[in-house]
Amino acid sequence: MSRQHAPSRRSFLQAALAAGGVAAWPLLGCGPAAKAPTHAAPGLDVSGANSLAAHAANANLLFGFAVDTAALRDNAAYRNTVKQQCSIVVAENAMKWSALRPAADKYSFADADALVAFTDENHIKLRGHTLCWHGGLPAWFDAAMAPDSARGQLLEHIRTVAGRYAGRMHSWDVVNEPILMADGRPDGLRTSPWLRLAGDDYIEVAFRAARDADPTALLTLNEFGVEGQNREDAEKRAALLLLLRRLKQRNVPIDAVGIQSHVRARTLYGYGAGLQSLLRSCNEMDLQVFLTELDVDDRDLSQNIDARDSGVAAQYASYLQTTLASPAVRAVLTWGVDDAHTWLNTAQPRGDKQPQRSLLFDERLRPTQAFAAVCDAFDARSSIPKH
Ligand code: XIL
Repeated sequence: MSRQHAPSRRSFLQAALAAGGVAAWPLLGCGPAAKAPTHAAPGLDVSGANSLAAHAANANLLFGFAVDTAALRDNAAYRNTVKQQCSIVVAENAMKWSALRPAADKYSFADADALVAFTDENHIKLRGHTLCWHGGLPAWFDAAMAPDSARGQLLEHIRTVAGRYAGRMHSWDVVNEPILMADGRPDGLRTSPWLRLAGDDYIEVAFRAARDADPTALLTLNEFGVEGQNREDAEKRAALLLLLRRLKQRNVPIDAVGIQSHVRARTLYGYGAGLQSLLRSCNEMDLQVFLTELDVDDRDLSQNIDARDSGVAAQYASYLQTTLASPAVRAVLTWGVDDAHTWLNTAQPRGDKQPQRSLLFDERLRPTQAFAAVCDAFDARSSIPKH
């Protein structure tokens, strides 16, 4: 391809600056100059072959966002970015108990149905999140749930929800965040309301019910805090592996592991060999891996915007370099579309009260430096022959 048709990232920078777009776009170094990156298009064109979905597809990956269903309905620019960039999406909140269950005997499917219709219409795959979690429970839950009813309620919820969308889902997070070492159990399981009320075997029960309700969705166990090179994460990884092995031994229908991937710029520990070893074990167990909730918390970076943006981009690059070499990894989703819609502003606010700059699009839906870093990471994986 001639350079005329494949502009370099430098010409993208010039065009972006001329268009008054991205304020600073340092060259990130992505291979020989002769192989100009396709996403570095003038006029901020990140569509088609320049999109994240296209770069991901070349690397045998799905790419997507956690979406806010209200923004998807009301904000055309947001909706267009989702259509343009995604081969898969997940509802940030619309498929949680709190959204689906206004009362113990009621379901409310309007937002979830609208998302399923949107993804069908646009040929985008859909992940379900989540059928069984200690969080995102409705206000009525505590008073209404008792040991003799909880198991039945869990089964009924899974049958109703997974059954309603059967055949249309790429995957379901059947159980979310089941491990908490601080709860002190030898098996590392979190003493969540589900464990206390529905029984120690609630994970197995939930997966079997999900398979019965939707035989085609990839059934996933989703977890966080297993990414880092620190001791706490290493212990949690060990507990996760133990749980996965036990489920496999008991022929529980589990297809995939979701590694949430809420990573942090400038950690003391970093992400490396421990995570790679977890990915190898998943691969050996024939479990697919999805990086389900990727974002970069920039709390520890200084106020300087350029430094923050390049620090966030560098963390995306290094985290994906650590993980994408594994053939087990099949999908990458960021937790939110743009910086105006990141949960981190509530969950992990910066000390200086500045909004987090954590995602691949800024608050005006312009691609960030991290966007380019992620495209480069996908391109690096597509050059590995086994993928
Ligand atoms: C978060 C959402 O982003 C917030 O909007 C909501 O208020 C709370 O939940 N791990 C998960 C997600 O599995 O469901 C959480 O989502 C973020 C952490």
